[in-house]
Parts: sequence; structure tokens; C-alpha cells
Amino acid sequence: MGIFTKKPINKLILDSSDGERSLKRTLGAGNLIALGIGAIIGAGLFVRTAAAAANNAGPSVTIGFIVAAIGCALAGLCYAEFASMIPIAGSAYTYSYATMGELVAWIIGWDLVLEYAVGAATVGIAWSEYLNKLLEIMGFKGGVPYEWSHSPFESLKDAQGAVLHHGIMNVPALFIIFMLTILLIRGTKESAVVNGIIVISKVAIVVLFIVLGWSYMKPENHIPYIPEPTVYKDLQGVSHNYGGIWGILGAAGVVFFAFIGFDAVSTAAQEAKNPKKDMPIGILGSLVVCTILYILFAHVLTGVAKVDDFRTVGREASVAYAITTYMAGHQWLANMVTVAILFGFSSVILVMLMGQSRVFYSMSRDGLVPKLFSELHPTYHTPHKSNWVFLVLVGGFAAFVPGDIVGDMTSIGTLFAFMLVCAGVWILRITNPEIKREFKVPAVGVVSVLGIVVCGAMIAGLGWTNWARLGGWLLIGLVIYFGYSKNNSKLRDGQ
Ligand code: ALA
Repeated sequence: MGIFTKKPINKLILDSSDGERSLKRTLGAGNLIALGIGAIIGAGLFVRTAAAAANNAGPSVTIGFIVAAIGCALAGLCYAEFASMIPIAGSAYTYSYATMGELVAWIIGWDLVLEYAVGAATVGIAWSEYLNKLLEIMGFKGGVPYEWSHSPFESLKDAQGAVLHHGIMNVPALFIIFMLTILLIRGTKESAVVNGIIVISKVAIVVLFIVLGWSYMKPENHIPYIPEPTVYKDLQGVSHNYGGIWGILGAAGVVFFAFIGFDAVSTAAQEAKNPKKDMPIGILGSLVVCTILYILFAHVLTGVAKVDDFRTVGREASVAYAITTYMAGHQWLANMVTVAILFGFSSVILVMLMGQSRVFYSMSRDGLVPKLFSELHPTYHTPHKSNWVFLVLVGGFAAFVPGDIVGDMTSIGTLFAFMLVCAGVWILRITNPEIKREFKVPAVGVVSVLGIVVCGAMIAGLGWTNWARLGGWLLIGLVIYFGYSKNNSKLRDGQ
């Protein structure tokens, strides 16, 4: 058997029901949609939207959202078919093991670390920004000192470009990752209840901002809606394609982050009560709700504040900044948004950390990563050792890498995984047409190819620094695969 060994679907399904080491089935369709929305609305909307407007597309960030939503919908359909057919933990990793063989499965599993672990770090960093805002609101001027709430690669400069402060370590980001790791170890069911409460408040503040902010939009902020193409150099000296079609594609790649998470629903398939029916509902349902909210939200945000604000003083905690500065009499809303965002980000981090441990749980059961990643806690039945290992990795990224970098790494890693999932669903239709599918992608060839093209276009929009980071990450993964996983694969051992 070689690196293209495929895991038979029947074996996949059989493995999922292995009693002793299996996860508890506690989640219904409602829980899954809540899990999806819990994972979806977060830093992408409340932090990356403003960054995409500032660096890439100005008001046309809304068009970026539409492009990203199209890519996600296409990939979401493919995810839904897979999840209804192979209803077990592991998401894209598991699907690709069945369709494209072990090496591709490894690449995806490794790539998903970017989505879940690095994604959790990104949201942790965004949490830190809004914590500072909250502390400011509560009267602690300046919040946590700049040095202790930013990575060593960031600095605060004055108008002349002189450095005022240098980041050392993002302590609040590390703190929230630590607290949520502990909550996660205590179990999925408890986490899902906390998540449900958070989801409601998160959706409520998004709707409130859209409704109340609508009348504060200034038409001139939306002109020109699509800026002329130019190159914009941000405060850290990084150049971006701003305006025009590349600006929109770049913005799509950046705000794509805001959609990440609907696929996290599929990582919980093994904990769903009725996965075949509920997974497609959970995945597509949460995606539809969020898309509508996002486009309206971005339209209002870029209508209320100027692009220049998002490049300078309103760069961090941008939504609270826009409300405080431009929506007179609505300080209460800014306060509410800040508090709800802090809780909202926590639920995103929680689902991402959970998704990460579930992917490695599956990979560990296949022997591709060490056994400790699938050892469950005797009382809580959660992969607690895995959670601790990822605390170190995610905490490291959150504490020492800037939010823009981890955010774009998350986007590009996920886009790449989506492309492989889109390909995989079509491949499996051809190679295994006999398998029962509760949900089938309509016009699978068209959806699959379009999914690959749209996600590929967003990757193109993210620019060469991000391509290089993705390439470097995959290279490290290949070294681990050929050094460890290939020799420890259970499928090849015939186990
Ligand atoms: N979609 C999630 C967020 O925006 C990852 O925070």
C-alpha cells in the first residue's frame, strides 16, 4: 500500500461506532445550527471587516462578502453531502482519506490546523482588542499596556512615524485561550449550553447595529463604492492591492475568515444525535443566516465611518469605535457591543478549539499523529491531552504573532481545504456512486468546479506573502508525514 491508500467508507463508519473510545452523541439540529453560528460570527465580522475595508476594498468590502459567501455556499454544499454520508468526526480530513488517499488526507488534516488552531489564535487576539475597549469604558485609561497586549512584531507609531511603544506579548489573548481550553475539557454538552446563550446575544447585537446604524450612514462614505486600483501601505509597512477587482478579491479572502466555522459543524458529526439529517441543516442553515447579516453589517459599518478611520485610530475594536465616534447618543450600544463581542468571540474560540481536537482525534485513531491525541478523559470523555497540547500551540500564536498575519493564514489554509473538499465530493460520486447519500449536491460537476475556482480566486487575492506562508506550513507537514505518519499509519498495518 502506498501514500495513495484510501480508507474504505465502510471502515470509516465502523470506526466511528467503536464503543470505548467514542464520543457521546448529545447534539440535535438546533444545537448544530447554534454551534455553527457560534463558530461563524466573530472576529471576521467585528475586526476583519474593517481591516479589509482599510487595506483592500473600501466600501466594496460588501462585494467581497458576496464573493466569499458564494465560495462558502459552494463548498458548504459539498461539506453537507460529505457530512450526511460519512457522519463521523474529522471533517474534511476524514472525507479526503476516503476519496483522495492518505497523503492528501494528511495534507488536509495538517492544513486544518491553520483553520482551527491558528483561527482560534486570531480570534483570541481580537478578543484582546475588545477587552482593552471594555477596560477603557470602565475607566481604566488605555486598558492593558500596549506592550502586554500586542505581539513583538507590532508597534504603535505617532503621526510622524516615530515608535511610541513596542509589543512584547499578548497576555489577554493567551488568557482567554487558556480559560476556554479548561471549559472545553469539561465536555461538549456543557459547552453547547453556554454557546447557545452567547449565540443569541451575538445575533442580537449584529441586528441592533444594522437597524440603529442605518440612519447614521453618510452617502459620501460610500463614494466611490469601488475605489480606483492603487497600492496601499499599512502602518506596519505591508503593501496591499487596494481598490478595483484585486481589492475586492483580496477583501473576499480577508473577510472569508468571517464565514469560517460553518464547516466546524461537520467536525462534531460524531456527537450529533441524527447526523445524516441534521448535518446539512446545521451547515447550510448557519451559513444562510450569517451571509444576510454580514452584507448588511458591512454596508452599515462602511457607511457610518470613513475608511481612513479604520487605517488609523479606529483600527482596533473598529465597531465600538464607529459607534462611539459617529452615532451620538448610542454609547450604550458601543458598551453592549463590546461586552457581547467578548462573549461572542469566546464561543468562536471554543468551537475552533473543539474542531481542532476532533480533527486530531480522527488522525490519531488512524495512527497519523500520536495516540495521545485520541485519549479521552475518564470522566468528561473529551480528548483532554490534545486540548493541552493545542493550548501551547494556539497560545503561542495568540501571544506572539500579529492578528493580521494569523487571520490571513487562517483564511488561506481554509480556502485550500475547501478546494480539496469540492474536488473530493465529485471524485467520490464517480468512484463510489453506490454509497447512500441523504443529501446530494445538485449539478455536482458544476458546483465542484465553481467552488474550486471561486476559492482559488480568493487565494490569488490574498497575495504572495500568504501563498509563501501556506507553502511553508505544508512543507513542514510533509516532513512530519514522511518522518512519522507514513510509518505509523494503522490502515497500512492492516489494523
Ligand atoms: N468566523 C469566525 C470569526 O469570524 C472564525 O471569528
